[in-house]
Amino acid sequence: MSGHFITIEGSEGVGKTTNINFIREYLEEKKLKVTVTREPGGSKLAEEVRALLLNHRQDDMANDAELLLMFAARAEHLHKVIHPALKRGEWVISDRFTDATYAYQGGGRGISMERIAQLENWVQGDFRPELTLLLDAPVSVGLKRVGKRGELDRFEKEKSDFFERVRNTYLERARILPQCFRVIDATCPLEEVQSQIKTSLDDFFK
Ligand code: TMP
Repeated sequence: MSGHFITIEGSEGVGKTTNINFIREYLEEKKLKVTVTREPGGSKLAEEVRALLLNHRQDDMANDAELLLMFAARAEHLHKVIHPALKRGEWVISDRFTDATYAYQGGGRGISMERIAQLENWVQGDFRPELTLLLDAPVSVGLKRVGKRGELDRFEKEKSDFFERVRNTYLERARILPQCFRVIDATCPLEEVQSQIKTSLDDFFK
């Protein structure tokens, strides 16, 4: 039996962590076996790559180096965590995946979408998430929440126009891939956000 692969995406401060916990509980209530993981990271080596990518001292990293490190971490994560869990029949929920690369390295840094698509095909073959929940909120709302968290990582230190491009790229991907994406309005009260998530999951179960 093979499992299912769901990803959660969104710009900074949209509440991914809280909602991923909600999704885990919702699926576990249905007696499903769930693996929650994240990108960049999720396996030992990929978490080491994450530390390099997020380190606030690496301010001058070349955009292509950043892109390749994201995919290097992803290759390892797929090999060590995602594919084995799916083979065991589990539901894998990943806090970010390749749509984040389109949004941050494509939209944010300006790397061509074609180049990202080439790496996506190389590293993943035709493997793609079955469902992507995009938590969407205006950039100013998300950045206000992030500002309260203490020391900022390399991405969190970017200016708001970077995050506007990230958000617009996510929304554009949701527009061109409506069969995979569900856009959740993350500015609603938590209960309402979770009700939107529940509806998306219930649709997926049908
Ligand atoms: P997190 O804050 O959601 O844990 O994610 C870490 C940061 O990594 C976040 O700012 C987005 C960024 N990121 C990319 O730039 N490209 C990617 O492909 C992924 C997965 C994350």
